[in-house]
Amino acid sequence: MRNIEDILKDMTMEEKLGQLAQYNANLFLNSDADITGPLTELGLTTEELKNVGSVLNFRNAREVCTIQKQHLEADRHKIPMLFMMDVIHGYRTIYPIPLGLGCSFDTELVEACTRMASREATAAGVQVTFTPMVDYVRDARWGRVMETCGEDTLVNSRMGAAQVRAFQGESLKDKSTMATCVKHYAAYGGAEAGRDYNQVELSEHSLREFYLPAYKACLDAGAEMLMPAFNTLNGVPCVANPWLMQTVLREDWGHDPLVISDYNAIGELRKHGVAENMKQAAKLAFENGCHIEMCSSGYIKYLKELVQEGVFTEEQVDDACRKVLQLKEKLGLFEDPYRGCSPEGEAKAMLTPENRALARKAARECAVLLKNEGVLPLSGQEKKIALIGPMASTNALKGFWACQGRDEETVSVEEGMRNALPEARIVAVRGCGNTCQDLDMSGFAEAVEAAKEADVVILCLGEPQDYSGEGNSRAELELPGVQTELAEAVIGANPNTAVVLFSGRPLVLTRLEKMAKAMLTMWFPGTEAGNAVADLLLGKANPCGKLTMTFPAAVGQCPIYYNHPRTGRPKPANKDGVHMPYTSNYIECGNLPLYSFGHGLSYSKFVYEGLTLSADSFTAGEKVTATVTLRNESDRSGKETVMLYMQDVVASNTRPVQQLLDYVKVELAPRECREVTFTITEEQLRFWNNAHRFVSEPGLFRISTGYADHLLHTKELTLK
Ligand code: NOJ
Repeated sequence: MRNIEDILKDMTMEEKLGQLAQYNANLFLNSDADITGPLTELGLTTEELKNVGSVLNFRNAREVCTIQKQHLEADRHKIPMLFMMDVIHGYRTIYPIPLGLGCSFDTELVEACTRMASREATAAGVQVTFTPMVDYVRDARWGRVMETCGEDTLVNSRMGAAQVRAFQGESLKDKSTMATCVKHYAAYGGAEAGRDYNQVELSEHSLREFYLPAYKACLDAGAEMLMPAFNTLNGVPCVANPWLMQTVLREDWGHDPLVISDYNAIGELRKHGVAENMKQAAKLAFENGCHIEMCSSGYIKYLKELVQEGVFTEEQVDDACRKVLQLKEKLGLFEDPYRGCSPEGEAKAMLTPENRALARKAARECAVLLKNEGVLPLSGQEKKIALIGPMASTNALKGFWACQGRDEETVSVEEGMRNALPEARIVAVRGCGNTCQDLDMSGFAEAVEAAKEADVVILCLGEPQDYSGEGNSRAELELPGVQTELAEAVIGANPNTAVVLFSGRPLVLTRLEKMAKAMLTMWFPGTEAGNAVADLLLGKANPCGKLTMTFPAAVGQCPIYYNHPRTGRPKPANKDGVHMPYTSNYIECGNLPLYSFGHGLSYSKFVYEGLTLSADSFTAGEKVTATVTLRNESDRSGKETVMLYMQDVVASNTRPVQQLLDYVKVELAPRECREVTFTITEEQLRFWNNAHRFVSEPGLFRISTGYADHLLHTKELTLK
């Protein structure tokens, strides 16, 4: 084992600053002549590049081995480089986007998928992943809602922590594990109007209660790294925000992870207008405890000068450098700089039958059945099936941020249905395109003909995969192009139609919902998309996902979320859709979303028979047990996520109309009845008050089961 302190003592300032920089792999793979352009843009010399300590955006084990070998030959201290990547929902075998994973409400499933991603990615040489992304979201216009688990803090926290545990394992010395980097700290998901990179303006209580806890949960679970967000938070860019980086992170939470800037976020401090030049940008980020600079060159260029001028001490640079070296040590890189990766091992680890099987299972568990009036499941006896729509035969279903996942390895719906029903007569018709610009209806006639001929129509609609993800905000949330018009024509020709949806965000489906008898959303399901769709349509799998993000009735309702605060002029829910002056509501569409958080149907029939509490009052330190009785009134076994909600009736702050307290996913056999229990404690009732503390206040709480706008069996509980 190498002694980090000995190495540090022997390093020059330039060498230390190299450890605090990260650049793209192409700078290290190409010849000097080829990189002159990019280097000049960054203002770097080839000498400076030699000291650089970490890399992103490489493609495979061969590249990792080449870069590492070349670096070790040149580096007098033989300090290995660190290789990082965005492994978000799989590496080569792609599983559903995180928004879909949230809907599974299944932490074990998320852990299993994450371990699979880790095995594949580490075989390709990845050592750190820029995951989990736990940005709390309320606005479906933002393209990056696909990367989060949605609009509930508890779900985000549990799913984020699960990913940290699964990626990092018991010890980072295990070569199938990797270090995690929680992001984007903080509140990147609060981008005004859902426009990416936009400013975020939030009160402290919103931040503390809703936006910040998931980052903390990931750090509590042991995440090694943290990435500050691109956005300004209340006027100050996150990477240079002392309140976030010092007060909350280090003082309040007591966490001191290795911090890496987002891509060129330090350089962008100039565009934000808080730094005049790169030197000032470097100063602002470094003084706020950002250790590694991604893809700009303020540290390499100016930290030495800032030390000479006495702005920083050499010890501060040592501390940052030490943290980088410590992570390298933890990952076992000093013993094996390649961490066991090789092109041969990589080839064996990818896309194995077990990995495909898990991706298929995950895609089934993340799907949400939005509506079903008797169309699904199919009997399997249908002789003629029409697959219609722009998403029917495409294999572009893996979603954004899919690493080395490939469309050509992804199963389309058409392929999945043909695999499942080799005897059936299946016709596939595109009908129209799926982009905003594509307004051509000339394919409708063929689609209508196919629909008329068929016993059942599977209408596959959605967004292109690059309509969500970074930089892909939308101003409209309807199905792009003329897809709703296609639905009208097809359903008019054959009402026995089930709609299968693909998207990276909640869509506005108000028009479609009026026509369609059945709607199943798959999100972007990943490599095994089509097989999972067939499993669900044919009833070989029973849908069990529940929405973790609200589907608005109209885009103008955004931001819309289930746990919104109460207003002084609420509109009675039974008057939704009727305009009532001087109440808080919209003239055109009312306040209710089309589908609430927690909505999701099953082929089983679950009945919530009752809720009981073990006491009707309690004190801090005591526990109350809530028991929900759930019955499966069908002949089909199925899974149900049972949720427990609370409302704080009177408090010193206005509290949300409801808030998820806890949930558990259970599987019930046909006709089975089960009691599901939850424990309620005083801690769960706390909120951030005006004296800047988490407190609970004595008084009345309403406890309910059911979900969001459909609460059931409310019971009163008093905290004394
Ligand atoms: C920018 C994105 O915001 C971030 O999520 C990602 O980790 C980095 N680029 C690196 O790819």
